[in-house]
Amino acid sequence: EDAAGQENFDRLIAEDSRIEPRDWMPEAYRKSLTRQVSQHAHSEIIGMQPEANWITRAPSLKRKAILMAKVQDEAGHGLYLYSAAETLGTPRDELNEQLLSGRAKYSSIFNYPARTWADMGAIGWLVDGAAICNQVPLCRASYGPYGRAMVRVCKEESFHQRQGWEILYKLSHGTPEQKQMAQDAVDRFYGPALQMFGPPDDDSPNSRQSMAWKVKRFSNDDLRQRFVDMIVPQAEALGLTLPDPDLKWNEERGHYDFGELDWDEFMSVIKGDGPMNTQRMARRIQAHEEGAWVREAAAAYARRQAEQNAP
Ligand code: ACO
Repeated sequence: EDAAGQENFDRLIAEDSRIEPRDWMPEAYRKSLTRQVSQHAHSEIIGMQPEANWITRAPSLKRKAILMAKVQDEAGHGLYLYSAAETLGTPRDELNEQLLSGRAKYSSIFNYPARTWADMGAIGWLVDGAAICNQVPLCRASYGPYGRAMVRVCKEESFHQRQGWEILYKLSHGTPEQKQMAQDAVDRFYGPALQMFGPPDDDSPNSRQSMAWKVKRFSNDDLRQRFVDMIVPQAEALGLTLPDPDLKWNEERGHYDFGELDWDEFMSVIKGDGPMNTQRMARRIQAHEEGAWVREAAAAYARRQAEQNAP
């Protein structure tokens, strides 16, 4: 059975076909995908916090409506991704428990504070921009439910990035104070956004196997480079600068060179010591506890429906 299963799995991967939930798959594939997809789901859910924080202070009714829609989109992405993760066999309660107990990782970027309205622009432009860069290739991930989820998520992320860009554009063409606020937001989010792609390839333990399985299609450094190449002209169009003195076009490589990132800071954020880790986790636990009545009501309703439908 396993030998036949393995052979079928290898053939599907080699053909660039998709692995579906009912197909036999190696335990390591199941485990690694559950890890990546659930971390991705957790990131979407925790990622609601920095922006939700600004809904009450959005500068106009229209901005408020847009921001609310965006934060709701993130919730939707999270739920969609938990569903994809569940098809690999781990129940959602268990995945959620891994997050609440602090055992599961989520993206480093969401452990930074959102200090000003301009941060809504920088998060949309840089953070969602990096997310798109990373996730467009994941639309072709070998695991069907994950790849299909990514298609929809990427469409919504594109809207998110455009709204962030537009916030920054308005600010950078406003008063000198507004332009300064936009520049300050970009200065703070640039480095952490580049770190969203993960550690350098040499320090990325999962990359080789994930690429062999065609879950990841490009390495962390390749995607980071692609992102830098994309945002340099966009920053120029915004009239803002990127905070890296080593950033310059390399004719030979056909890419922008950029400076070394602060990987010690990255490691400490991942270990839980970033500026906002404690607050993000406390808020998530509180939200989960406050939602207990919804879960209880839904379970009671389901029980009653089952009783009424019983023969
Ligand atoms: N923040 C937190 N943890 C990270 C980050 C990051 N930015 N980058 C890497 N890590 C973790 C990995 O999860 C891994 O830990 P684990 O083995 O305990 O799971 C470890 O650091 C080593 O990294 P890699 O071996 O490079 O891990 P991987 O091959 O999984 O690559 C990556 C990391 C690029 C983030 C990949 O998992 C991925 O593409 N995930 C899907 C996208 C995603 O999760 N995006 C979330 C932010 S976007 C958003 O939510 C809007």
